[in-house]
Amino acid sequence: MAGGGVIHGTADTSRIEAPVTMKAYLMCAFAAFGGIFFGYDTGWMGGIMGMKFYIRQYTHLQYPASDASAATKALFVLPGWQQSLLTGILSCGTFFGALIAGDIADRIGRRWTIISGCLTFTVGCILETASTTLAVMVVGRLIAGAGVGFISAIIILYMSEIAPKKVRGALVAGYQFCITIGILLANCVVYATQNRDDTGSYRIPIAIQFLWALILGTGLFMLPESPRYFVKKGKLDDAARALASVRGQPIESEYIQDELAEIIANHEYELSVVPQTTYFASWANCFHGKITDPASNLRRTLMGIGLQMMQQLTGINFIFYYGKLLLFCCRVVFFTSLNTIRNPFLISLITTLVNVLSTPISFWMVEKFGRRNLLIFGGTGMVISQYIVGIVGVTVGQDKGADTNKAAVSAMIAFICINISMFASTWGPCAWVVIGEIFPLPIRSRGVGLSTASNWFWNCIIAIITPYLVDAQYANLSSKIFFMWGSLCIISVLFAYFLVPETKGLSLEQVDRMLEEVSPRHSRKWVPHSTFAAEMGLVEKGVPLQGTAELGDSAQETEQETQTLPASKEIV
Ligand code: BGC
Repeated sequence: MAGGGVIHGTADTSRIEAPVTMKAYLMCAFAAFGGIFFGYDTGWMGGIMGMKFYIRQYTHLQYPASDASAATKALFVLPGWQQSLLTGILSCGTFFGALIAGDIADRIGRRWTIISGCLTFTVGCILETASTTLAVMVVGRLIAGAGVGFISAIIILYMSEIAPKKVRGALVAGYQFCITIGILLANCVVYATQNRDDTGSYRIPIAIQFLWALILGTGLFMLPESPRYFVKKGKLDDAARALASVRGQPIESEYIQDELAEIIANHEYELSVVPQTTYFASWANCFHGKITDPASNLRRTLMGIGLQMMQQLTGINFIFYYGKLLLFCCRVVFFTSLNTIRNPFLISLITTLVNVLSTPISFWMVEKFGRRNLLIFGGTGMVISQYIVGIVGVTVGQDKGADTNKAAVSAMIAFICINISMFASTWGPCAWVVIGEIFPLPIRSRGVGLSTASNWFWNCIIAIITPYLVDAQYANLSSKIFFMWGSLCIISVLFAYFLVPETKGLSLEQVDRMLEEVSPRHSRKWVPHSTFAAEMGLVEKGVPLQGTAELGDSAQETEQETQTLPASKEIV
């Protein structure tokens, strides 16, 4: 805003967010596209590792003769350690990518961090596509993983910061929808190329990903930066411009001034509670405060990390990984042992389709019933459906003739699908929605990064340990594993009931205030009653816009400058 000026906040709680145009909604929704990376990248590796051509290329084993014995054919697989390495290395890259992404997003901005995530991802993708040896593939996977880590963490941050409060949950749920589409697409592409006897079998599915990087990178290049990032940097002119752009309003609009003043006042307030000093101290801030205090940074960080951990411990990826494991002849084949559906791809298709089709209802439910209710409801639904699968499994299970009991097997598959549907409409989207909303601005990017890293960490642990849990040679849980997931879902429900606050319909700044005033269990009834702008005195004294000083200093400057600037809403 050329020339700067002074903005004055509002004491009216209904005016702390500007009205939004359709174009602005579409801009926010576009960012959800980032979910495709997440889904597609986790989706293709499993299928590729089961491809004949890929196995020959990476192990130098010769194809078994068509009349070879089953035992000989079973030897034609990637060694277990290679499968673990290729699967685990992605999570390793994403874990570290998500961890450092927060820092980068505070330094260069949310938008540029996502764009650099796309570039990093592209470099990894080039190596993966070019690779004919394990070493190159592993390095490529690690680098691509780091890119996915950047993108998966910062997209959530960016979307939460720019989305209007009324539809923030629905828009972030759109990200989850894109994850599910990514998984589905990966399954379909792998299916289409799996029988090719050339490098196209694995190169085509990998190379398709360039398209995602190109679309997201180019799109974000044209979108505005998060205004909250500029506020954090003290670049208030830029913040005003970015806010006007994401709301589709003229920069002079009073609505834009009111919203911006509220963001600034909240940030000032947060800094007055926990001042930012050195780099390490700012990391330590994520763990500041008492665990018993719902508003403390420590509690919020643990909530984000815990929420993503519980999302993984619902066992959803057990189902998806097993669909995939079937495609590459894993030692443990849970679904084929169910004997009703013999084609592994069909099973994957069913589970991934149920996942895709059940997600859109969450766009509506997350705003209608709220995050907390959905987590409690969905968790309870998963407990019931997983226990039913477990009970059917042990009562008329494989050892007791379920291989021939089609009704029992069909019931198990039906309840597995109900379980997926419960996840897809509740814990899938809500875990992402909530981590974007619970952190105060000074630690938001790191908090979201830490929470996303927790998702990838547990994702990796589950991918590694579940085969051993089911395998007859190890824990041999077989269908009893559903009792384990069901019991973990009970913990998820308790976690949501005691620890997750209701954030529906509140601005990110109001969430801050709500956490200070009520416990999560009483959060649903909390209504905003004051604005930060009023409490920090910005309604009368205003904030000068032209400064680029770090905001910690601006309270003082504000007082000095407002003595010379007119106390009006005019900002140009
Ligand atoms: C989870 C992933 C999971 C996917 C399934 C995401 O929210 O974080 O681990 O594979 O949902 O749709």
